[in-house]
Amino acid sequence: TLNLLDVTYADFRRKAERRLPRFLFDYIDGGSGTETTLRRNTADWEALQLTQKVLVDASKMDCSVELFGEKLALPLVLAPIGMGGMTSRRGEVQAKRAADKAGIPFCLSTVGVCPMEEVAKVSGTPFWFQLYMLKDRGIVQDVLSRAAAQGVTTLAFTIDLAVLGTRYRDFRNGMQGGLSPWGRARSGLIDYALHPGWLWDVGIRGAPHGFGNLAPYVKQSANPRDYLHWTGSQFDPSVTWQDIEWLRKVWPGKLVLKGILDLDDARAAVAIGADGLIVSNHGGRQLDGAASTAAMLPRIADAVGDRTTLLVDGGVRTGQDLVKALALGAKAALVGRPWVMALAAGGEAALTRYLAMVKQDMRTALGLSGAVNARNVGRGVLLGK
Ligand code: FNR
Repeated sequence: TLNLLDVTYADFRRKAERRLPRFLFDYIDGGSGTETTLRRNTADWEALQLTQKVLVDASKMDCSVELFGEKLALPLVLAPIGMGGMTSRRGEVQAKRAADKAGIPFCLSTVGVCPMEEVAKVSGTPFWFQLYMLKDRGIVQDVLSRAAAQGVTTLAFTIDLAVLGTRYRDFRNGMQGGLSPWGRARSGLIDYALHPGWLWDVGIRGAPHGFGNLAPYVKQSANPRDYLHWTGSQFDPSVTWQDIEWLRKVWPGKLVLKGILDLDDARAAVAIGADGLIVSNHGGRQLDGAASTAAMLPRIADAVGDRTTLLVDGGVRTGQDLVKALALGAKAALVGRPWVMALAAGGEAALTRYLAMVKQDMRTALGLSGAVNARNVGRGVLLGK
């Protein structure tokens, strides 16, 4: 249930830490290595200073933007989160409802809990789908035709997972590497026993509806562990630019490359015909030590910003951050952890409140930076930029 005192990301995160089994909270909250990039992502948005400009008519505030021909009430997209729906019963369905209400797109992960057909039933509003390349291209083709049939408009192809980042928290919990029998025990029965509310809501009441968007292709069993094992073994580390050319041919909708962090890669992505790029380091979960997205975005915008649509994610938490992202050249930003932590804390209602708060903060930032309209935000709203 939603607590009236829970308002910010920090509130929802704290609540999620209590409600979720340890292995699941750590899986979401953590990053790779020493978590340097994870910390840098948020720190670098915070470090940017907005300039305050007064006595500008703020009576006609507008947070909306246009993205790939669709109008968004906020320059925000809910990022694809593998197993994101595990934080609350049929979580992706709840997230889609909240996104609809807020007038923003929801992006379903290849490895979401709810199949895309279930998400599509929420409403006629189109959603985005995120693709990981699987070794079996036949399955990929089938996944893409399912997506097209469900009205998916935009495909985010994630390209920063050629190897999985080393996530120490997952090692400790027996989720990665399988090194720790104690971790495995703790993240199994003991962990469940300590979090009966979650177990009842997600594990028991949610279970009959099935587990996993890729379930139709998994032959072994309905056991989530088998499913995750099969999915992990299907990830294709050999993906190169040629696969993008192939995708460009087989996917009729918009194609956005997710995980660009380098200027030459950005130029190559534009040359190959991608409709947009998501400047991303996978939320600090892949290459630890990589630059923050707030640092790379303006550089990538200078290189290709006039030739493509830029999006950004990693550490974006508030409406002020959205204005900063627009100022540095993005059309919109994505948030990952915030939506799953909000769901864990209080389901759809909590996520709706979080999104309302982001909007309120963005209005404040637009009104007091002199930009007023999201479409007017330029580097001038940032000190020294
Ligand atoms: C992710 N991310 C991710 N990205 C993707 O393309 N497919 C996926 O399945 C996942 N899964 C996933 C799980 C979890 C638990 C997290 C936290 C992240 C990355 C995600 O889409 C996004 O890039 C980051 O989450 C953005 O950073 P913030 O907003 O979480 O700081």
